[in-house]
Amino acid sequence: MAATPVMTPLQSVIGSPNRPLPEAISSESVIEIWGGEPLSGHIPVSGAKNSALVVLGGTLLCSETCRVRNIPDLMDIGRMAEVLLALGLKVNRAGHMLDVDASHVSHSKAPYDIVSKLRASFFVIGPLLARLGVARVPLPGGCAIGARPVALHIRGLQALGAQVHMDHGVVHAYVPGARGKLKGAKIYLDYPSVGATETLMMAATLAEGETVIENAAQEPEVVDLANFCIAMGAKIRGAGTNTIIITGVPSLHATDYSIIPDRIEAGTYLVAGALTKSEITVGPVDPSHLTPLLAKLRETGSKVEIEENMNIRISPGEKIASVDVQTLPYPGFPTDMQAQFMALLTLADGNSIVTETVFENRLQHVAEFNRMGADIKLKGDCAVIRGVSHLSGAPVTGSDLRASAALAIAGLAAKGKTTLHGLHHLDRGYERFEEKLRNVGAKLRRIPLSEVDSAAQPTIGAEN
Ligand code: EPZ
Repeated sequence: MAATPVMTPLQSVIGSPNRPLPEAISSESVIEIWGGEPLSGHIPVSGAKNSALVVLGGTLLCSETCRVRNIPDLMDIGRMAEVLLALGLKVNRAGHMLDVDASHVSHSKAPYDIVSKLRASFFVIGPLLARLGVARVPLPGGCAIGARPVALHIRGLQALGAQVHMDHGVVHAYVPGARGKLKGAKIYLDYPSVGATETLMMAATLAEGETVIENAAQEPEVVDLANFCIAMGAKIRGAGTNTIIITGVPSLHATDYSIIPDRIEAGTYLVAGALTKSEITVGPVDPSHLTPLLAKLRETGSKVEIEENMNIRISPGEKIASVDVQTLPYPGFPTDMQAQFMALLTLADGNSIVTETVFENRLQHVAEFNRMGADIKLKGDCAVIRGVSHLSGAPVTGSDLRASAALAIAGLAAKGKTTLHGLHHLDRGYERFEEKLRNVGAKLRRIPLSEVDSAAQPTIGAEN
């Protein structure tokens, strides 16, 4: 009989007088990476950030306590919990497990200071509307990779019967009429937006009647959210295809649910293995969530084997062959793996072309790779990469979560020392990043910015 977990009530998970905001810690430190060390052993994979965030938003749909397991220990999770606390929910934590009691939702307005830092907190708008008939959520800002509009979310909520208007940067949504219930509708998404699909699927679970979402996103995290809602009693069919059908139910009940492994974290470490020409295993992860990445790794010459215990083994080929990659909505090559895979292609034998089609500004890491001796030219949404014999360590700055991880793993293969700045991005999406890499032989450490010698200060990438 498993011991009863000791749950700790979360009062304020981030930022309190005696606990500086984690990003304050992150932005005051850097990671120093010494390249050239081969890796060996196993890298464990945590729960999926992009599933945990939206599932936590989904707990608002249920007026009982839900237990969510395999939650990664990340800054963004703390922020999402903060949003739920601000809405009046109770959140208790034991390690990678959260109990969320949404029996009383006392507010319908998400706090700006958190939403401005965590786009994913916009996910509460659908559940709040479905549960309360009203929601006031600050418009999530853009970020380094793009404007990140939410028009598809809003148009879909309007199709479900909500009145939505913007006022002073806040999205005000409410359901007119005495009953305040959303009405099922047929919704076509102009673009298979992950967030819009998730927002509308959650809102439709408690709507009256049937909702059909066409041109829906098919990402594994969308399927995970659907499975979580179904575990609470929702009626959802077709998640994972481009057409999702939701039949509204009056209410949802408690459930105990475990988040899928993080395919992007797993992919990041697989590419680290390929970059350093090492043999490592990474897992657990569902290999079917990584089909395009595994295919492209094999095309570059890596040997990739699926082991029975949901681990993936990667080992080096004779050389790194150049390949072309285009990012696409799932099941295409994931945009969240674009920077990491580009790091590998900088060392390929020949020229490669990487085309970013999902976000309008997700190639800023090219300049940083070139500081490390890569030879990449930007042409619109394409990066033309001429493979070089080696990278050289340098001070670099990550512009977003995945670019930061990509620069770090590039540092593992570079000659000399790389100093990575911009850790507040990295800490949002990678649990125990240094520790997991150190455990397989990488040489890296996190130090305060004050200890970094001036030669290691980046000139490009600094805030302009
Ligand atoms: C999710 O963001 C992920 N974030 C992103 O991961 C991921 O890159 C993205 O999906 C694509 O896979 C979370 O799940 C928390 P989208 P989301 O809506 O939902 C346009 C990471 O590194 N669009 O599918 O915001 C949008 O501008 C992060 O972990 C509209 O035009 O992505 C973009 O060009 C980064 N109108 C494209 O769709 C809308 O209303 C894809 O965005 C919504 C989106």
